[in-house]
Amino acid sequence: MPAPRIEGQGRMPHITYLPDDRRVETGPDESILETSLAAGIPHAYACAAKARCSTCRVVVAAGAEHCSERTEAESVLATRLRFADNIRLACQTRVVGDVTVRRPVLDDVDIAVTSQLGKDVLPDHVGEEKRIAILFADISGYTSFVESLPPYDVVHALNRYFYLMHAVVEESGGYVSDYVGDGLLAFFGVDDESTAASDAVAAGIAMFGAVERLNAYLDPMYGRTFRIRVGVHYGEAVVGTIGIGDIRKLAAFGDAVNYASRVETTNKEVGTDFLISDAAREQLDGRAELGRVVVTELRGRPGEHVLHEVLGLADADGPATSDDE
Ligand code: FES
Repeated sequence: MPAPRIEGQGRMPHITYLPDDRRVETGPDESILETSLAAGIPHAYACAAKARCSTCRVVVAAGAEHCSERTEAESVLATRLRFADNIRLACQTRVVGDVTVRRPVLDDVDIAVTSQLGKDVLPDHVGEEKRIAILFADISGYTSFVESLPPYDVVHALNRYFYLMHAVVEESGGYVSDYVGDGLLAFFGVDDESTAASDAVAAGIAMFGAVERLNAYLDPMYGRTFRIRVGVHYGEAVVGTIGIGDIRKLAAFGDAVNYASRVETTNKEVGTDFLISDAAREQLDGRAELGRVVVTELRGRPGEHVLHEVLGLADADGPATSDDE
């Protein structure tokens, strides 16, 4: 394809890259990807600019009329992935006037997030009664986070958050059952009841470490950070795989699930980040460092309930540690 003609006399076009808002001059023979890389702007390009991976894709927020026509290779991928007109492969696109583009895929984690979406393989579990640990997590200040960012960035940040949380849960032997808004529900002990509570507590602690790492990414990018609250309960529930086709999930039913939710929401009322029920504590066998003991009423439950603040994991050979230390 011939080099695009530069519009205007003696002025080179500029590309503004979002979300970091960097404005860079580009040349007639440089792709959007080559320009970002030359300027030291992080930009994923997993297939080395061969129009095969789509990780270099950008959303053209302004100046779409200044972009070159799709190359044949880009057209093939754009058709297969049903790209809207304003989604372009940065490795295939050059510009003849000023444009503003947003990179949705910024680094290796984003590449993994993109390739993982919708690809979970869930083993079949017929409904059966089990003693499991149930973990709820939610994001403190979620509403103000959502209101402070464009919806596109909210989706991006949440996808990254849930990707990291999902990885933590799986590494700890659990299953993510549900995402509801900013909330996450996970089960432990489905395959091995003996370590259910300690696996759930280990996962909860690892989540705080993962959020620290996530914040190191979000803060410079959006000027916002996440803080999470976690609750764990141990009890009896009926566990099974429900749903049809691709829309299937591991679900648990029973009073223990509702109780776990109440434990998690109590964090907000008493100013803690991680609470577990007394039933969960009994299963830990000293494998966690505990802090405050909270005696409280739980909504919809008669009487008083004893909850425990979790500070970190207890190491058999030394003092308790938290994951992010
Ligand atoms: S780098 Fe793979 S499609 Fe552009």
